[in-house]
Amino acid sequence: MQTTLYNFGDSLEKIEKEIKECKKCPLYKTRKNAVPGEGGFQRRIMFVGEAPGRREDELGRPFVGAAGKFLDELLASIGLSRKDVYITNIVKCRPPGNRDPTDEEIKLCSPYLDRQIAIMKPRIICPLGRFSAKYILEKFGFEMGKISKIQGKVFEGNILILPMYHPAAALYHQNLKSELYKSFEVLKSLL
Ligand code: URA
Ligand code: SF4
Repeated sequence: MQTTLYNFGDSLEKIEKEIKECKKCPLYKTRKNAVPGEGGFQRRIMFVGEAPGRREDELGRPFVGAAGKFLDELLASIGLSRKDVYITNIVKCRPPGNRDPTDEEIKLCSPYLDRQIAIMKPRIICPLGRFSAKYILEKFGFEMGKISKIQGKVFEGNILILPMYHPAAALYHQNLKSELYKSFEVLKSLL
């Protein structure tokens, strides 16, 4: 995978419009709303989740369900709010029943994320969960390891990558919660 370096004539608005009308993979058939992403990028911090869930699909906004509430708490723990960060997903439409996204869906949808990255030029990307960690690490030339090994660690290249557990996983496995708070302390140290 290769980093997209061009963004001539491209804009977040253009990408958003394309995503909302996209029919490149079968997920468009079951979605209510595609979820392009939202937030501020003044501070050049980007969070990349996996795919929208039920609530996100209903509202067309990222991380607005239970996992999102926890993400808000994590951000607040280091003095940030959603306005300070851009939040999106690798896959922009909800997989039915919240199943994992397939390799094919990731392959077809990730060019949108590549373009968002090319425009926003984040200084720090925090992938949430193993699917986005793998995608982002490999995109920037790093090797994916076990999520338990790589989470909370900073990968330094053209940009800083700080993979984290997915906040939804921490809702089911309480022991991951403290790891997520620790990862956010690492993020704070990078600001
Ligand atoms: N989980 C994700 O990965 N993304 C969302 O937007 C919501 C829940
Ligand atoms: Fe298009 Fe991505 Fe939605 Fe598939 S998941 S229809 S590729 S926007």
